Parts: sequence; structure tokens; C-alpha cells
Amino acid sequence: MYFKKIIGSKCYLSPMNSNDAEKFTEWLNDLDITVNLTLYNSIINTENEKAMLEKLSKDHNYSIIDNKTDELIGNCGYIDLDHLNQTAEVGIFIGNKNYWNKGYGTEALTLLLDYGFKALNLHNIGLRVYSFNRRAIKSYENAGFKIIGKRREALLRGKEKYDIIFMDILEKEFYENNKIIMEINNGVGGNFA
Ligand SMILES: CC(C)(COP(=O)(O)OP(=O)(O)OC[C@H]1O[C@@H](n2cnc3c(N)ncnc32)[C@H](O)[C@@H]1OP(=O)(O)O)[C@@H](O)C(=O)NCCC(=O)NCCS
Repeated sequence: MYFKKIIGSKCYLSPMNSNDAEKFTEWLNDLDITVNLTLYNSIINTENEKAMLEKLSKDHNYSIIDNKTDELIGNCGYIDLDHLNQTAEVGIFIGNKNYWNKGYGTEALTLLLDYGFKALNLHNIGLRVYSFNRRAIKSYENAGFKIIGKRREALLRGKEKYDIIFMDILEKEFYENNKIIMEINNGVGGNFA
């Protein structure tokens, strides 16, 4: 069962449900997906994933659900929320690969950012991405993130060393430049604006 907490035109964000552990376990054992994540080197089984989902569901982490089919396609959320400094980091993955490159990731991230700036009072939101992950970098740029630096040769994948790219976005940049949120807000007024 999913709940329409934050609604976009393609997808909505719902609280996470630990009954989805099997689906997440399948995705997090797919190296095409995890090569892009810190979980690449982790052992994930249904039991520890269920415990992880229960933990994640208590914080601002959300399942990404397709509007048309109510199907679970991935998750996104905040790590290291710091209310004193109004900062946080985001993480996202679309586990259902049929949904890659169709705008779902960018929209889900946009919904999460809008919620972060308006409801969680954030000012600066950051993320880390691996230099070979061109799709993610483009999606983040489309959501309004800027590259602010990199940690050189800090990631090992297949015996090769890659840079870790740091990106961030400020509240005012998001509302000035993000076309998706402008369309959503113009169309329906934003579901929690
Ligand atoms: C990264 C991810 C969240 C992006 O979501 P998505 O729904 O696939 O992405 P979108 O369709 O919203 O946007 C992808 C953009 O990258 C572009 N793109 C795709 N492959 C690309 C490539 N090899 N080089 C450059 N740009 C590329 C697309 O054309 C699109 O840009 P456009 O809309 O301007 O044409 C998703 O692919 C995913 O979860 N991947 C696996 C896990 C992962 O990488 N997570 C992020 C870890 S930091």
C-alpha cells in the first residue's frame, strides 16, 4: 500500500514500506544498479534489507511510485539532515531499469527538493555522484544542481580509480531554474505549498 505524500506528474513519493524488502533486495543485488552506489560492496539479503527499510522509513526517505500503475520503481531520501545549518544530502535510485531515462529520476528528485526547501526548511542540499555516472549527473543538472568540486581517484570500480563528484543547490536557484517544479506548481499549486 502506498500513500500519495508528494505528487508529481509522472510519479509520487510515498513513505517506505518494509514489505517491499524482496523487491529492494533484487535491485540491490543487481550490479548494473549498485555500481553507482556505496552499497556495491555490501551483502544484501531480504532479512537485513527489511531491517534497513524499517530504519529508513522513520526518516525522510520515500518510495518512488509510478502515477499510472502505482508500481514501486525506486527510492529517494535525505541523509545527514542538519536543521541547525539547514543542510542535507540526497540519495536516489530507480531500481526498475525499464524506467531509466524517462524523466522519473529527475522528477522524483525535484519533488524531494521542493519538500526539503518548503517543509524541512533546508537552504543547501548536496549530493555525491561517481564520475562515470553520466546519466545521474545530467539528471541532477536538469534538477538544478551544480558541480562544486571533486575528490580525485577516491572510488575503486573494476580495478579502475574514479573521481567522486560533489554537487549542490541553493533554495533560490531551485525556484529560479527548475522547469519541472514550475510546471507542477503552475498546474496544481503544489500539493503542500
Ligand atoms: C540516476 C537515476 C536516478 C536517473 O534517473 P532517470 O529517471 O534514469 O533519469 P532521467 O530520465 O530523469 O534523466 C536522465 C538524463 O540523462 C541523460 N543521459 C542518459 N544517459 C546519458 C549518458 N550516458 N551521458 C549523458 N547524459 C545521459 C538523459 O538523456 C536525460 O537527460 P535529458 O532529459 O536532458 O535528455 C537512475 O538512472 C538510476 O537510479 N540509476 C541507477 C542508480 C544510480 O545511478 N543512482 C544515483 C547514484 S548517485
